[in-house]
Amino acid sequence: MNDSHDITILAIETSCDETAAAVVGVVDGKVTVLSSVVRTQIELHAKYGGVVPNLAAREHVENIIPVVEDAIRKGGIAPDDLSAIAVTKGPGLIPALLIGVSAAKTLSLVWKKPLLGVNHLEGHIYANFIGTDPDKTDSFPLLALIVSGGHTQLVLMRDHFRYEILGETRDDAAGEAFDKAARLLGLPYPGGPAIAARAENHEPGKNPEFPLPRPMIDSDNLDFSFSGLKTAVLYLMKENEARKNDTHFIDAVAHEFQEAVVDVLVAKTGKAIEAYSPTTVIIAGGVSANTRLRDRMRELVLRDFPETTFMMPEFKYSLDNAAMIGSAAVFRYGHMGAEDRDRLATDALSLDADSNLAL
Ligand code: KG4
Ligand code: ZN
Repeated sequence: MNDSHDITILAIETSCDETAAAVVGVVDGKVTVLSSVVRTQIELHAKYGGVVPNLAAREHVENIIPVVEDAIRKGGIAPDDLSAIAVTKGPGLIPALLIGVSAAKTLSLVWKKPLLGVNHLEGHIYANFIGTDPDKTDSFPLLALIVSGGHTQLVLMRDHFRYEILGETRDDAAGEAFDKAARLLGLPYPGGPAIAARAENHEPGKNPEFPLPRPMIDSDNLDFSFSGLKTAVLYLMKENEARKNDTHFIDAVAHEFQEAVVDVLVAKTGKAIEAYSPTTVIIAGGVSANTRLRDRMRELVLRDFPETTFMMPEFKYSLDNAAMIGSAAVFRYGHMGAEDRDRLATDALSLDADSNLAL
């Protein structure tokens, strides 16, 4: 770590359907969120059953300045106090990403501040480091289960910013599977919280009434597949057409679906811990807000790998937000020498959004 003591970052995130800005700094030796503002567009997109990229962009345009102003005000800072500006450069929806990137470039020019482009998935990972000492280096090797609307990956980090993909989904992401299954069950978008809420209503018996498969749970690798699970829900709904308005039926299927996804995620994470013996295990991304997944992962690590530390993001930093981008930027900026920091200022205008940016 170079110098993380006086860092204050303004972070901006517009990769999907939340317009978010945050001020994150290092206070008393800990990564600290001074403000985090998230303006969600869920209501707008729910009508269409998913995110409409151009509508998302239009909303970001309307919201970005008030959201940034709000973050600065609540953070109790002036632009002059900032060490740098950070923005999500990908992966995500291009029309959406471009709004955040243009705003960040403009502020960087006007306020004469260096500009960092941050990977959205790196942000989800570093949400776990909010509240920790940025100079602490004993968390590695670290295993991250990334589960979001667009990604499902098991990632090994042997150090900061070094990512080795151990396994990933071959088709749908876990969050995408929740969203698609919810649609089949007649539940609203986003599907994850909707399914989780319905699953909670269900009192499970010894055996599930409507069993679903656990795709690839015993496969000899760390990959995932969720599209077959979605197809199984489709068939189940067709076979039980007459019950589609039966609350008990929908609750039972929602419960079994959530169990199936969580079983696979937990089993594969266990397999990865066995193979790589990480010091730390974390979960990251929107699906890490799922209470059942949080409980089962905690239980797995406590029971089978008591030497391993388990961390998960605070609930509000599981879903898309800018504080996580700010946290990643605190680490990135803190690890840079003077030359690299200077280059950030001169290179600000060449920062490009990249919808498929890899870790
Ligand atoms: O990370 P995120 O907010 O956006 C992306 O980067 O994609 O993740 C959104 C995904 C959606 O698919 C949503 O259904 C899922 O996270 N999600 C959940 C829960 N809350 C959000 N999935 C399961 N259980 C939840 N409680
Ligand atoms: Zn996300």
